[in-house]
Amino acid sequence: MQGSKGIPDIFESADHFISRKFSKDDAILRSINLSLAKAGIKNISVSSSQGKFLHLLVLMCRARRVLEISTLAGYSTIWMARALPKNGRLISIESNPEHARITTRHISRAGLSDQVEIKLGVAVEILAFLSRRRKDLFDMVFIDADRPSLREYFTWALKLTHSVSLIVADNVIRQGKVMNPDARDPDTKSVQRFLRSLASSEKVSATVLQTVGPKGHDGMSIAVVHGKRNHA
Ligand code: SAH
Ligand code: DHB
Ligand code: MG
Repeated sequence: MQGSKGIPDIFESADHFISRKFSKDDAILRSINLSLAKAGIKNISVSSSQGKFLHLLVLMCRARRVLEISTLAGYSTIWMARALPKNGRLISIESNPEHARITTRHISRAGLSDQVEIKLGVAVEILAFLSRRRKDLFDMVFIDADRPSLREYFTWALKLTHSVSLIVADNVIRQGKVMNPDARDPDTKSVQRFLRSLASSEKVSATVLQTVGPKGHDGMSIAVVHGKRNHA
């Protein structure tokens, strides 16, 4: 049966089955979704099973430093930050002051204020600032912001990471729209260009994992950086 998200019901109910077992939202994560609803902001956070997946990636690469582009209300931020060791740090970039303000409240309630820093500003400007600071090489970067700048964010991510760092990007399948060679929508075209350069990059090994569930049919690209210390 076809569900409301354009995917068969079984995919959404299986995701629900999985997330009930492995990634149940606690009070903090639930209150993030409530704040979004209250503020009338469209909830485009990752799903809880995707949040848990990002959490596992942070654990798998033993990340101590994580960079996120961008925050929204901190849902993915909190899933990733909770996988960090005590001395780990996460920087999340957000250009919308209201989103940043909501997030700061939740980060504080989650007891993560010492580990998570929300940088308010336009992503490319903050990325340029971070790369000038030089000390900031990240073990994992999660890209989940405006699609037209996706390739640019990936280029910055390469500059800001080292060998074996992970670079993950959300929403790269878009209900299969990326498979359409005649696509006209600028977001889809930008993702198509990004996937072409990701697939042919000699700087990373990469693939895309499809995702299905409450957020419909989409996918996350995952790239492991190889080569020398960094690509600055
Ligand atoms: N990662 C979040 C969802 C992020 S939604 C989660 O899964 O919980 C995308 C966010 O990107 C929005 O909050 C939007 O305000 C922000 N954004 C869009 N363009 C941006 C830009 N150029 N610089 C910084 N943030 C941007
Ligand atoms: C949209 C953005 C996202 O990052 C996402 O995961 C889902 C939807 C959007 O802009 O509609
Ligand atoms: Mg997304």
